[in-house]
Amino acid sequence: MIKDFEIFLKDNLPQVDSFHPYFNQALGEMLDAGGKRFRPLLLLSVVQHSSPLLVKNAMHVALGVEMLHTYSLIHDDLPSMDNAGLRRGQTTLHVKYDEVTAILVGDALNSHAFYMIANAPLSDDVKVKLTSILARDGGVSGMIIGQAIDCKFEDEKLTLEQLKFLHLNKTAKLIAASLLMGAVIGGISEDKQKILYNFGLKLGVLFQVQDDIIDATLSSKEAGKPTSNDKHKNSFVNLLGLSGAKREKQKLIEELNKETNILESGLAKMLQKIISDYFKG
Ligand code: IPE
Ligand code: IPE
Ligand code: MG
Ligand code: MG
Ligand code: MG
Repeated sequence: MIKDFEIFLKDNLPQVDSFHPYFNQALGEMLDAGGKRFRPLLLLSVVQHSSPLLVKNAMHVALGVEMLHTYSLIHDDLPSMDNAGLRRGQTTLHVKYDEVTAILVGDALNSHAFYMIANAPLSDDVKVKLTSILARDGGVSGMIIGQAIDCKFEDEKLTLEQLKFLHLNKTAKLIAASLLMGAVIGGISEDKQKILYNFGLKLGVLFQVQDDIIDATLSSKEAGKPTSNDKHKNSFVNLLGLSGAKREKQKLIEELNKETNILESGLAKMLQKIISDYFKG
């Protein structure tokens, strides 16, 4: 399924025709550079489980989510944010081209995410719901406020509760939204949508805990991005120490695996597999 997504992505890279010497090339580059595709996988897996015939239609939406995520990475790497020169194993856009290009490619991917949803072969009422979820969780009540706090409180230690708020917003809500959007497309009942969303929030915190561990333990070659780069940040490793962060990771994995029991067995198996594939070690 994720192979089909990669093909769909290549066929649907955003393009713009103009006399700008390199903007069009820069536009799709970071999207095309790869990455774990964790959010599209979550979204498409829920659709596959609930309404397999709609997986193809859902590709448009999965790509929209990946576009918004990729925009958040491009901006995250800017000099005014995390100042990173490597992403997905490639030189970041502001280094390869210039800062204006990186800012505007990010802007373009943000708006194009919603263009993808608006033009997806799905019913209008479903598309309105998807738009609202992505705008909320990928926007000001989610990723944006998380990033704002992340950058504002560099070199200022947060409490563990504040750190969880930060991780919940900057990372977990978009991950939860991916499951929820899959559930909306698949026509899953609202009660079950809520359960999946809450599961996604915890999964998203786990994702960021692991990301913090990656920063402290992997080489930049292994990670495809600079590591040992969180020294000024509030991260799980900085607040709890590496072994504390690893304990937190294991605790979340156990809790999540248990929580899958309340889900329908096919969906539970699918989520357990994703957890074991993505959170090894
Ligand atoms: C990195 O996201 C930023 C976080 C929210 C932790 P990913 O780890 O999903 O990055 P890619 O998509 O695989 O490059
Ligand atoms: C970024 O978190 C979260 C986003 C919303 C992009 P990080 O700053 O930890 O992500 P990496 O480590 O650079 O991928
Ligand atoms: Mg950051
Ligand atoms: Mg960063
Ligand atoms: Mg990180």
